[in-house]
Amino acid sequence: MNNIVKGLEGLEVDDTEICLVDGTAGQLSYRGHLIETLVQRPFVDVVSLVIGDDTEALADELRAAGALTEQDTRLLRNAEASSAHPMHVLMGLTPLLNAGVNVGDGDGTGFERFGDAAAGFRVAAKLPALIAGLLRLRTGKQMIDYPIDEHDFNARFLIQAGTAEPNDLLRRAFDVTQILQIEHSFNAGTFTARVIASTLADVQNSLAGGFAALHGPLHGGADQAALEMADEVGDPTAAASFVDRCLAAGRKIMGMGHREYKVLDPRARFVKDLARDLSSGTEQEATFATLEAIEARFRERMLEKGKSLYANLEFYKGIVYRAAGLPADFFTATFAMARVFGYLAHFMESRVDNRLIRPAARYIGVMP
Ligand code: COA
Repeated sequence: MNNIVKGLEGLEVDDTEICLVDGTAGQLSYRGHLIETLVQRPFVDVVSLVIGDDTEALADELRAAGALTEQDTRLLRNAEASSAHPMHVLMGLTPLLNAGVNVGDGDGTGFERFGDAAAGFRVAAKLPALIAGLLRLRTGKQMIDYPIDEHDFNARFLIQAGTAEPNDLLRRAFDVTQILQIEHSFNAGTFTARVIASTLADVQNSLAGGFAALHGPLHGGADQAALEMADEVGDPTAAASFVDRCLAAGRKIMGMGHREYKVLDPRARFVKDLARDLSSGTEQEATFATLEAIEARFRERMLEKGKSLYANLEFYKGIVYRAAGLPADFFTATFAMARVFGYLAHFMESRVDNRLIRPAARYIGVMP
């Protein structure tokens, strides 16, 4: 009888040149470049590296294609009228956005060199305006015009969200956080996107599928869950008993543990420092202290049990996003705004030598 590997852990299903997650060394690199160096570079530079584009055209193309068309805005207003979670809005609108034509000051449609992934780049370009627009509408505010003169991809989002002053500290913290989230190899969302790509479906299907998996609480949804947990605890002095109660009840501490990293997630280290800087002297200081206290108690309890579980990227990220004025239900959508480029890199890579991904399950039910 074959041995079934539940969750496919450790199984290699394809080759990739995009990203290496070294769980033992606690290192992450995109195309051979360690994230320690990548976080020093502009966001779109790192995107270009991840997608393997050496034209230097991407930043301008994304800027030219980033505004919503009238049709996109109508769709957004309809979606806003529902109470759907921002990730559901993203999943639903991804195939509907006007991805065939460009608007703004561009002189062409752009992205043609990406072949059948081009429409996906047009969707990715619009995500900041879409998410910021949804946020404005949900909070009963007017949408802010697309800041076509702002050259920085993430700064355009912060301006259109209009929730916080995009000062240098916030811009940098937000950029670094987004760079750390562009890509993470064959995680659940990326694998889903690749499975869909392997059916030769449109790139929008692949992106919407990736977003659907990213929304799960055990994947990208842990950011929202971790911060809500800190809010529930409320105070650093209550952290230890909270952790003990959770562990006794078999409830997971969100933002802790990782499939690959058996040492500290290298991204978590950066995000923790940024969260500390951003929260210092603000009303978020207590939330940061509560998270730190949860982390300390969790580590203590895991050491007792001999388990190598540490904070992952999601644990402190909510502090950065909250400093940007984003409500918790918008965290995963903001994550998606960066991860979409990882999905596009995988979509293109998988198309080069496509094979339908279709594993099997052993039937153990009643025989006919
Ligand atoms: N809190 C409490 N216990 C945890 C835990 C957490 N966050 N993460 C793992 N564990 C425990 C498991 O219950 C399991 O215990 P057992 O050996 O007694 O059965 C053990 O540690 C191994 O965990 P497992 O779930 O098998 O690890 P995994 O490598 O398959 O899963 C995650 C990794 C990410 C799914 C898991 O750590 C988790 O659920 N974390 C919280 C969600 C999260 O932060 N997700 C974002 C990931 S970037």
